[in-house]
Amino acid sequence: MTSTTAATPYPDTQEAVATVRERTPHVPRLALVLGSGLGDLAEAAEEAVTIPTTDLPGYPHSTVAGHDGQLVFGRIEGVDVVFIRGRVHLYEGHPVRAVSFPIRLVYALGARQLLVTNAAGGINPRCTPGTLMFITDHINFAFANPLVGPNDPAGPRFPDMSEPYDSAWVDRAEALALANGIATERGTYIWTRGPSYETQAEIQAYRLLGADAVGMSTVPEVIQARHAGMQVLGLSTITNYAAGLGEEPLDHDDVLAVGQDIRATLEQLVRLILRDLPT
Ligand code: HPA
Repeated sequence: MTSTTAATPYPDTQEAVATVRERTPHVPRLALVLGSGLGDLAEAAEEAVTIPTTDLPGYPHSTVAGHDGQLVFGRIEGVDVVFIRGRVHLYEGHPVRAVSFPIRLVYALGARQLLVTNAAGGINPRCTPGTLMFITDHINFAFANPLVGPNDPAGPRFPDMSEPYDSAWVDRAEALALANGIATERGTYIWTRGPSYETQAEIQAYRLLGADAVGMSTVPEVIQARHAGMQVLGLSTITNYAAGLGEEPLDHDDVLAVGQDIRATLEQLVRLILRDLPT
Protein backbone atom coordinates (compact mmCIF):
# COMPACT_ATOMS: atom_id res chain seq x y z
CA MET A 1 0.00 0.00 0.00
CA THR A 2 1.28 3.46 -0.81
CA SER A 3 0.96 6.25 1.69
CA THR A 4 -1.36 9.08 0.79
CA THR A 5 -1.17 12.75 1.62
CA ALA A 6 -4.23 14.88 2.30
CA ALA A 7 -6.09 15.41 -0.95
CA THR A 8 -5.34 18.75 -2.61
CA PRO A 9 -8.60 20.47 -3.39
CA TYR A 10 -9.13 21.13 -7.09
CA PRO A 11 -5.98 19.55 -8.61
CA ASP A 12 -6.29 21.72 -11.76
CA THR A 13 -5.17 24.66 -9.61
CA GLN A 14 -2.05 22.98 -8.24
CA GLU A 15 0.49 24.55 -10.60
CA ALA A 16 -1.03 28.00 -10.22
CA VAL A 17 -0.95 27.61 -6.42
CA ALA A 18 2.75 26.73 -6.65
CA THR A 19 3.43 29.81 -8.80
CA VAL A 20 1.62 32.06 -6.31
CA ARG A 21 3.56 30.49 -3.44
CA GLU A 22 6.88 31.33 -5.14
CA ARG A 23 5.89 34.99 -4.90
CA THR A 24 3.91 35.41 -1.69
CA PRO A 25 3.08 33.48 1.47
CA HIS A 26 -0.19 35.46 1.73
CA VAL A 27 -3.17 33.35 2.83
CA PRO A 28 -6.32 35.27 1.92
CA ARG A 29 -9.29 35.16 4.26
CA LEU A 30 -11.57 36.59 1.61
CA ALA A 31 -11.57 36.76 -2.17
CA LEU A 32 -13.06 39.85 -3.78
CA VAL A 33 -14.13 39.59 -7.41
CA LEU A 34 -14.10 43.01 -9.06
CA GLY A 35 -16.65 43.49 -11.82
CA SER A 36 -16.71 45.70 -14.93
CA GLY A 37 -15.12 49.08 -14.26
CA LEU A 38 -14.61 48.25 -10.56
CA GLY A 39 -11.05 46.98 -10.80
CA ASP A 40 -9.46 50.07 -9.20
CA LEU A 41 -10.54 49.00 -5.73
CA ALA A 42 -7.48 46.72 -5.66
CA GLU A 43 -5.26 49.81 -5.69
CA ALA A 44 -6.30 50.49 -2.09
CA ALA A 45 -4.67 47.24 -0.93
CA GLU A 46 -1.72 47.58 1.43
CA GLU A 47 1.47 45.50 1.11
CA ALA A 48 0.12 44.39 -2.23
CA VAL A 49 1.67 41.62 -4.29
CA THR A 50 0.28 41.67 -7.83
CA ILE A 51 0.44 38.64 -10.08
CA PRO A 52 -0.64 38.90 -13.73
CA THR A 53 -2.99 36.01 -14.38
CA THR A 54 -1.03 35.23 -17.56
CA ASP A 55 1.74 33.98 -15.20
CA LEU A 56 -0.59 31.40 -13.66
CA PRO A 57 -0.77 27.99 -15.40
CA GLY A 58 -4.37 27.05 -16.14
CA TYR A 59 -5.77 30.55 -15.62
CA PRO A 60 -8.07 31.60 -18.49
CA HIS A 61 -7.29 34.80 -20.34
CA SER A 62 -9.71 37.71 -20.49
CA THR A 63 -10.40 39.45 -23.77
CA VAL A 64 -12.65 42.34 -22.65
CA ALA A 65 -11.63 46.00 -22.27
CA GLY A 66 -11.75 46.91 -18.56
CA HIS A 67 -11.03 43.34 -17.48
CA ASP A 68 -7.21 43.17 -17.31
CA GLY A 69 -6.29 40.04 -15.41
CA GLN A 70 -4.43 40.22 -12.13
CA LEU A 71 -4.60 38.66 -8.72
CA VAL A 72 -3.74 41.24 -6.09
CA PHE A 73 -2.88 39.91 -2.63
CA GLY A 74 -2.98 42.52 0.11
CA ARG A 75 -4.53 43.86 3.28
CA ILE A 76 -7.47 46.17 3.39
CA GLU A 77 -9.26 47.22 6.59
CA GLY A 78 -7.00 44.74 8.39
CA VAL A 79 -8.26 41.78 6.33
CA ASP A 80 -6.09 39.60 4.12
CA VAL A 81 -7.80 39.78 0.76
CA VAL A 82 -7.09 38.47 -2.70
CA PHE A 83 -8.60 40.68 -5.37
CA ILE A 84 -9.61 38.95 -8.58
CA ARG A 85 -9.16 41.73 -11.07
CA GLY A 86 -10.36 40.92 -14.53
CA ARG A 87 -12.79 38.05 -14.57
CA VAL A 88 -13.49 35.87 -17.55
CA HIS A 89 -16.92 35.22 -18.98
CA LEU A 90 -18.72 32.44 -20.78
CA TYR A 91 -19.34 34.72 -23.78
CA GLU A 92 -15.61 35.00 -24.42
CA GLY A 93 -15.72 31.38 -25.50
CA HIS A 94 -14.28 29.85 -22.35
CA PRO A 95 -15.71 26.59 -21.07
CA VAL A 96 -17.70 27.20 -17.91
CA ARG A 97 -15.10 25.34 -15.84
CA ALA A 98 -12.50 27.88 -16.96
CA VAL A 99 -14.80 30.71 -15.91
CA SER A 100 -14.86 29.34 -12.36
CA PHE A 101 -11.12 28.47 -12.24
CA PRO A 102 -10.26 31.63 -10.26
CA ILE A 103 -12.64 30.56 -7.50
CA ARG A 104 -11.10 27.09 -7.26
CA LEU A 105 -7.70 28.78 -7.13
CA VAL A 106 -8.49 31.24 -4.34
CA TYR A 107 -10.14 28.44 -2.37
CA ALA A 108 -7.02 26.31 -2.77
CA LEU A 109 -4.99 29.32 -1.55
CA GLY A 110 -7.07 29.52 1.61
CA ALA A 111 -9.97 31.92 0.99
CA ARG A 112 -13.20 30.82 2.67
CA GLN A 113 -15.29 33.94 2.08
CA LEU A 114 -16.20 35.39 -1.30
CA LEU A 115 -17.39 38.90 -2.01
CA VAL A 116 -18.44 39.05 -5.63
CA THR A 117 -19.27 42.28 -7.44
CA ASN A 118 -20.62 42.86 -10.92
CA ALA A 119 -22.20 45.37 -13.23
CA ALA A 120 -25.82 44.61 -14.06
CA GLY A 121 -28.80 46.00 -15.92
CA GLY A 122 -31.74 47.04 -13.75
CA ILE A 123 -35.03 45.23 -14.36
CA ASN A 124 -36.89 46.07 -11.15
CA PRO A 125 -37.93 49.76 -11.36
CA ARG A 126 -36.19 50.33 -8.00
CA CYS A 127 -32.91 49.30 -9.64
CA THR A 128 -32.04 52.53 -11.46
CA PRO A 129 -28.53 53.23 -12.77
CA GLY A 130 -26.19 53.91 -9.84
CA THR A 131 -28.04 51.57 -7.45
CA LEU A 132 -26.08 49.12 -5.32
CA MET A 133 -28.01 45.86 -5.01
CA PHE A 134 -27.25 42.99 -2.65
CA ILE A 135 -27.85 39.76 -4.52
CA THR A 136 -30.19 37.60 -2.46
CA ASP A 137 -30.68 34.85 -5.03
CA HIS A 138 -30.00 34.07 -8.66
CA ILE A 139 -31.47 32.42 -11.74
CA ASN A 140 -29.11 30.43 -13.93
CA PHE A 141 -30.46 31.36 -17.36
CA ALA A 142 -27.23 30.45 -19.16
CA PHE A 143 -27.88 26.81 -18.26
CA ALA A 144 -24.17 26.16 -17.86
CA ASN A 145 -22.75 24.69 -14.67
CA PRO A 146 -19.05 24.55 -13.70
CA LEU A 147 -19.60 21.38 -11.67
CA VAL A 148 -20.51 19.24 -14.69
CA GLY A 149 -17.98 16.41 -14.97
CA PRO A 150 -16.36 14.21 -12.34
CA ASN A 151 -17.00 15.60 -8.87
CA ASP A 152 -14.03 17.02 -6.97
CA PRO A 153 -14.09 15.66 -3.40
CA ALA A 154 -13.64 19.24 -2.10
CA GLY A 155 -17.44 19.38 -2.17
CA PRO A 156 -20.61 17.33 -2.67
CA ARG A 157 -21.81 15.94 -5.99
CA PHE A 158 -25.13 17.75 -5.60
CA PRO A 159 -24.50 20.97 -3.67
CA ASP A 160 -27.46 22.63 -1.99
CA MET A 161 -28.28 25.95 -3.65
CA SER A 162 -31.25 26.99 -1.53
CA GLU A 163 -29.25 29.87 -0.03
CA PRO A 164 -26.27 30.60 -2.27
CA TYR A 165 -25.87 34.12 -0.84
CA ASP A 166 -25.50 34.12 2.96
CA SER A 167 -28.68 35.83 4.17
CA ALA A 168 -27.25 36.73 7.59
CA TRP A 169 -24.30 38.38 5.83
CA VAL A 170 -26.68 40.33 3.58
CA ASP A 171 -28.62 41.52 6.65
CA ARG A 172 -25.42 42.57 8.35
CA ALA A 173 -24.03 44.39 5.31
CA GLU A 174 -27.34 46.07 4.58
CA ALA A 175 -27.54 47.36 8.17
CA LEU A 176 -24.01 48.73 7.87
CA ALA A 177 -24.90 50.50 4.63
CA LEU A 178 -28.02 52.00 6.19
CA ALA A 179 -26.15 53.17 9.30
CA ASN A 180 -23.66 54.92 7.04
CA GLY A 181 -26.14 56.60 4.75
CA ILE A 182 -25.56 54.33 1.76
CA ALA A 183 -28.79 53.40 -0.03
CA THR A 184 -28.98 49.80 -1.22
CA GLU A 185 -31.51 47.43 -2.71
CA ARG A 186 -31.72 43.65 -2.60
CA GLY A 187 -32.80 41.37 -5.38
CA THR A 188 -32.48 38.39 -7.66
CA TYR A 189 -29.79 38.37 -10.36
CA ILE A 190 -30.38 36.51 -13.60
CA TRP A 191 -27.35 35.18 -15.50
CA THR A 192 -27.49 35.27 -19.29
CA ARG A 193 -24.69 34.06 -21.51
CA GLY A 194 -24.36 37.20 -23.68
CA PRO A 195 -22.49 38.79 -25.34
CA SER A 196 -25.46 40.48 -26.99
CA TYR A 197 -27.56 42.47 -24.58
CA GLU A 198 -31.12 41.28 -24.08
CA THR A 199 -34.14 42.01 -26.23
CA GLN A 200 -37.06 43.91 -24.73
CA ALA A 201 -39.14 40.73 -24.83
CA GLU A 202 -36.43 38.85 -22.94
CA ILE A 203 -36.32 41.51 -20.23
CA GLN A 204 -40.11 41.35 -19.84
CA ALA A 205 -39.83 37.57 -19.56
CA TYR A 206 -37.05 37.79 -16.95
CA ARG A 207 -39.13 40.20 -14.94
CA LEU A 208 -41.99 37.69 -14.90
CA LEU A 209 -39.51 35.06 -13.75
CA GLY A 210 -38.65 37.21 -10.74
CA ALA A 211 -35.37 38.79 -11.80
CA ASP A 212 -34.45 42.25 -10.51
CA ALA A 213 -31.16 42.63 -12.37
CA VAL A 214 -29.48 40.98 -15.34
CA GLY A 215 -25.85 40.28 -16.09
CA MET A 216 -23.34 38.00 -17.78
CA SER A 217 -21.24 36.81 -14.85
CA THR A 218 -21.18 35.82 -11.16
CA VAL A 219 -23.43 32.75 -11.17
CA PRO A 220 -20.77 30.20 -12.23
CA GLU A 221 -18.39 31.67 -9.65
CA VAL A 222 -20.99 31.42 -6.93
CA ILE A 223 -21.89 27.83 -7.85
CA GLN A 224 -18.19 26.93 -7.63
CA ALA A 225 -17.80 28.75 -4.32
CA ARG A 226 -20.82 27.01 -2.81
CA HIS A 227 -19.46 23.66 -3.95
CA ALA A 228 -16.38 24.42 -1.87
CA GLY A 229 -18.53 25.61 1.05
CA MET A 230 -17.39 29.23 0.83
CA GLN A 231 -19.56 31.90 2.40
CA VAL A 232 -20.77 34.26 -0.35
CA LEU A 233 -21.93 37.86 -0.49
CA GLY A 234 -22.90 39.36 -3.86
CA LEU A 235 -23.20 43.00 -4.80
CA SER A 236 -24.43 44.32 -8.16
CA THR A 237 -23.81 47.83 -9.38
CA ILE A 238 -26.74 48.72 -11.58
CA THR A 239 -25.11 50.49 -14.50
CA ASN A 240 -28.07 50.86 -16.88
CA TYR A 241 -31.76 50.26 -17.36
CA ALA A 242 -32.22 46.81 -18.90
CA ALA A 243 -33.28 46.74 -22.56
CA GLY A 244 -36.48 48.63 -23.26
CA LEU A 245 -36.71 50.23 -19.80
CA GLY A 246 -34.57 53.30 -20.55
CA GLU A 247 -34.38 55.80 -23.37
CA GLU A 248 -31.02 54.77 -24.80
CA PRO A 249 -29.74 51.69 -26.59
CA LEU A 250 -27.26 49.75 -24.41
CA ASP A 251 -23.57 50.49 -24.75
CA HIS A 252 -20.65 48.88 -22.88
CA ASP A 253 -18.93 52.29 -22.51
CA ASP A 254 -21.94 53.56 -20.54
CA VAL A 255 -21.75 50.47 -18.35
CA LEU A 256 -18.09 51.23 -17.60
CA ALA A 257 -18.79 54.96 -17.04
CA VAL A 258 -21.52 54.38 -14.45
CA GLY A 259 -19.27 51.85 -12.76
CA GLN A 260 -16.73 54.67 -12.37
CA ASP A 261 -19.28 57.08 -10.88
CA ILE A 262 -20.44 54.69 -8.20
CA ARG A 263 -16.92 53.52 -7.43
CA ALA A 264 -16.35 55.71 -4.37
CA THR A 265 -19.59 54.62 -2.74
CA LEU A 266 -18.94 50.99 -3.56
CA GLU A 267 -15.44 51.27 -2.11
CA GLN A 268 -16.85 52.78 1.08
CA LEU A 269 -19.40 49.96 1.35
CA VAL A 270 -16.81 47.25 0.69
CA ARG A 271 -14.58 48.73 3.40
CA LEU A 272 -17.49 48.71 5.88
CA ILE A 273 -18.21 45.08 4.98
CA LEU A 274 -14.57 44.07 5.41
CA ARG A 275 -14.39 45.76 8.81
CA ASP A 276 -17.29 43.66 10.03
CA LEU A 277 -16.94 40.22 8.46
CA PRO A 278 -18.97 37.35 9.89
CA THR A 279 -16.76 34.80 11.67
N1 HPA B 1 -27.49 43.14 -19.51
C1 HPA B 1 -26.56 42.18 -19.35
N2 HPA B 1 -25.41 42.40 -18.73
C2 HPA B 1 -25.17 43.63 -18.26
C3 HPA B 1 -26.08 44.67 -18.40
C4 HPA B 1 -27.31 44.41 -19.08
O1 HPA B 1 -28.18 45.28 -19.24
N3 HPA B 1 -25.54 45.77 -17.81
C5 HPA B 1 -24.33 45.38 -17.33
N4 HPA B 1 -24.09 44.09 -17.59
